[in-house]
Amino acid sequence: MKEPAIERILFTEEQIDQRIREVAAEIDARYAGREVKLIGVLKGSVFFLTALARELTVAAKIDFLAISSFANQKAAPGMVRIAKDLDESIEGENVVLVEDIVDTGFTTRYLMQHLAGRNPNSLALCTLLDRTPRRIVQVTVDYRCFEIPDRFVVGFGLDYKQFYRNLKYIAVLNMDAPTSAA
Ligand code: IMP
Ligand code: MG
Repeated sequence: MKEPAIERILFTEEQIDQRIREVAAEIDARYAGREVKLIGVLKGSVFFLTALARELTVAAKIDFLAISSFANQKAAPGMVRIAKDLDESIEGENVVLVEDIVDTGFTTRYLMQHLAGRNPNSLALCTLLDRTPRRIVQVTVDYRCFEIPDRFVVGFGLDYKQFYRNLKYIAVLNMDAPTSAA
């Protein structure tokens, strides 16, 4: 099978870095004088989380969870399972869930509910990419770097069959069925 190729670059390394600095400044302003806990979702958000964390000046802890998502399977739309839970409690903490992309919203809504049930002091959502045209369930995005069109994208953490995560830029993949890929 021929692998799909990069069709065009949506956001360059420079654009991404610049935007992350701006979003980090928003988070710094909001949590000034307090501590935050950034929670990343393995594996897609790792690249974004580390870049964001390095731009923050507020005191920040990090933790990760991993999920198995069945959101793109027609048999079980929106089903998400926690494959690796957080290492530490988030009770009383100012939690920021850091996502690679909010697409249909199923994954994010599940995770936000999961985290809200653990009594954080506050809970916010920060995403690298937001693809609102495909939203099915409503989620409140507090911080976003970029809105993207309804095309499958890779890079800066986002994968196609686990490849392309390490691209420094974000690109549209040329696929026969762009919206059916997981
Ligand atoms: P949602 O539950 O539909 O919002 O799906 C979110 C998850 O689907 C993300 O965390 C990604 O892992 C994956 N995903 C959605 N769109 C893309 C894309 O364009 N490229 C790579 N992964 C994607
Ligand atoms: Mg993925």
